Amino acid sequence: MPEHSRREFLATTAAIGAAGLIAPTGFGAWRAPRQSGDQLGVAVIGCGGRGSGAANDTLTANTNVRIKALVDLKAEAAKGLRDALKEAHGERVDVPDERIFTGLDGYKKALEVEGVDVVILATCPGFRPLHIAAAVAAKKHVFAEKPVCVDTAGYHICCAAHDIAKSQGTAIVTGTQYRRQASFVEGIQRIRDGMIGEVVGMTARYCSNGIWYRERKPGMSDMEYQIYNWMHFTWLSGDQIAEQAVHNIDIIHWVMGGPPVRAFASGGRWNRPADSEMWDSMSVDYEFDGGRICSFNCRHWPNSDNAFDNVVYGSKGIATLRAFNDGSRIVDRSGKELWSTKGDIGKAYREEHRALVESVVAGRPIVELRQTAEASMMAVMGREAAYSGQTATWDFMTTKSKLNLFPAKIEIPGEAPMPVVRRPGEYRLV
Ligand SMILES: NC(=O)c1ccc[n+]([C@@H]2O[C@H](COP(=O)([O-])OP(=O)(O)OC[C@H]3O[C@@H](n4cnc5c(N)ncnc54)[C@H](O)[C@@H]3O)[C@@H](O)[C@H]2O)c1
Repeated sequence: MPEHSRREFLATTAAIGAAGLIAPTGFGAWRAPRQSGDQLGVAVIGCGGRGSGAANDTLTANTNVRIKALVDLKAEAAKGLRDALKEAHGERVDVPDERIFTGLDGYKKALEVEGVDVVILATCPGFRPLHIAAAVAAKKHVFAEKPVCVDTAGYHICCAAHDIAKSQGTAIVTGTQYRRQASFVEGIQRIRDGMIGEVVGMTARYCSNGIWYRERKPGMSDMEYQIYNWMHFTWLSGDQIAEQAVHNIDIIHWVMGGPPVRAFASGGRWNRPADSEMWDSMSVDYEFDGGRICSFNCRHWPNSDNAFDNVVYGSKGIATLRAFNDGSRIVDRSGKELWSTKGDIGKAYREEHRALVESVVAGRPIVELRQTAEASMMAVMGREAAYSGQTATWDFMTTKSKLNLFPAKIEIPGEAPMPVVRRPGEYRLV
């Protein structure tokens, strides 16, 4: 890790570590529990596709929230969201132009708005640890979209933020909606209850035909362009395995009860635009105790078969937990159906916001950042094993690795990290 990056990382973790002990000035101390009739003020940081969805979800799921501030690098994204939400939810959207913030430090201004209790973090993932650390230090309740980190430095920031939130009594719910989707919750409960016997392994896939690529616009600096086209730069998205497929990896984490011992991986790329850092396929064998293997695969290949299923193999049967609205099914070893149900992902998206607000009002804040940080780190571990061709152990990745992709300096306009396609054998684990 370059010296300047290391200093920056240590300074960030030290700052949030201290935040648990020293109340930051300028922020009111949190009063819990809230009365159920109280209005909770919400700020949305990142007003793109998912930030818009999450804002609508919390307003739909909770009668006692109001949107008080919106933040985006682009004013038009925040204003467009304000207008759309206002049309759907009326006066519960209370965001005059003065409470629309832009720029890279817009999030800091939103955290200072009086009456903001909850922040929704939905920018591209690279900024997530920074935003989580700042929101927790400001004693806000947090909804953090997945993935919550794309490197080891971000993982450690999330673990520290989890502990601080727990000790100070603020909530952190994450955007791993399958954890709140009935078809997954009930299926995994049946696995826990022994319906398929001992779990001996899994397969999990996120294989689709592709993802967007946003062409550079005239006049954009390198930094502005990379943040705009963030999917294609590992420091911003974490690559497909973290950005999209962390959903499946989180299911592996959930079923197996924690992270694996090691990861062995392969993959490559042949159909990405020249300046994209993304690979277009990765396969990872995650090895758990007892030598049990969870085999994971993700890819973006055109005109190919899609697959999004998670299949859990047991000594007595097989459970298939299917993504989106496709439902779950358990069969015995002869193929006879033992149980099945439909899925409803829309309900799960709303449920995560209902659960967050309910936990705050009840004075029993949910803090679930660590499990999502571990799932995100499993994605990082698989990606780094594929990029390098080396076996990555959980112990190395979480206690020795110095992987910190976040640039030491970010300015718009400004320079950005040089895009690089990692080549196994040349690229090494750090
Ligand atoms: N849970 C899910 O199923 C799900 C679905 C889609 C996306 N997501 C996640 O949501 C996040 C956002 O994805 P998206 O599809 O909405 O992307 P998007 O590109 O549509 O929106 C991101 C927005 O964030 C803004 N932004 C970027 N950096 C910023 C910064 N530093 N400060 C303020 N604003 C900033 C951008 O201008 C953009 O408007 C990602 O982490 C993604 O993985 C989750």
